[in-house]
Amino acid sequence: MLAMNKLRILGASVAAIAATVLITSCKDKRSTGWEYAPNMYEHIAYDPDQKNPNFADGKTAQVPPNGTIPVGFVKFDYPKTKEGYELAGAEVHSTLPQTQANYAEGKVLFMHFCSPCHGETGQGDGLVVQHGYPPPPSYSKGQSSRGGAMKDLTDGKIYHTITYGNNAMGSYASQLSPEERWKVIMYVHHLQTL
Ligand code: HEC
Repeated sequence: MLAMNKLRILGASVAAIAATVLITSCKDKRSTGWEYAPNMYEHIAYDPDQKNPNFADGKTAQVPPNGTIPVGFVKFDYPKTKEGYELAGAEVHSTLPQTQANYAEGKVLFMHFCSPCHGETGQGDGLVVQHGYPPPPSYSKGQSSRGGAMKDLTDGKIYHTITYGNNAMGSYASQLSPEERWKVIMYVHHLQTL
């Protein structure tokens, strides 16, 4: 008797599951199904691509007013040209406090981002170069391809180079924030004396 009941319950469960699968699989394939938390789909905030009666042009995504810059953005108004490089070299100076901590961080960043080509002591003999990449000139003994000795490169020239790159060296603007660039430059100045 008990065994019969068990079988019936089992049978009913299988039928119920089969019915559920059948019903749900017949639903509109594009439907997102039940909305458990509708506020997540139909929220009161405007989406960027939505119409918006609060602005004159009726759009939600507004262009920032002329002359505004994002919070924390540091301007570097020197073009990626020889003139921009020379001008930055003359006008741009580090305002980073010359502390041991900044120097130490600059060294770490240099080891990560620059030493593969420039070498750990800045002689232009990094691992990538040992595998055939065009060697950069030594920071202390080499000549810059843009004229002058590498050891005389100023804050602004190095900052310009990290920001835009030069020839076989790419830009590091997306990897290093302006502050990080100044830390690396602190370390490069040390390597220029070796
Ligand atoms: C992929 C290899 C590579 C990496 C990585 C690299 N450089 Fe260079 N770098 C070069 C080469 C090659 C040159 C020589 C380019 C030229 O003048 O033709 C160079 C040149 C330079 C110069 C001299 C620019 C001048 O005015 O002549 C500086 C300064 C410099 N690199 C700094 C850095 C710093 C700082 C980093 C790390 C953030 C870095 N480089 C990462 C390859 C690299």
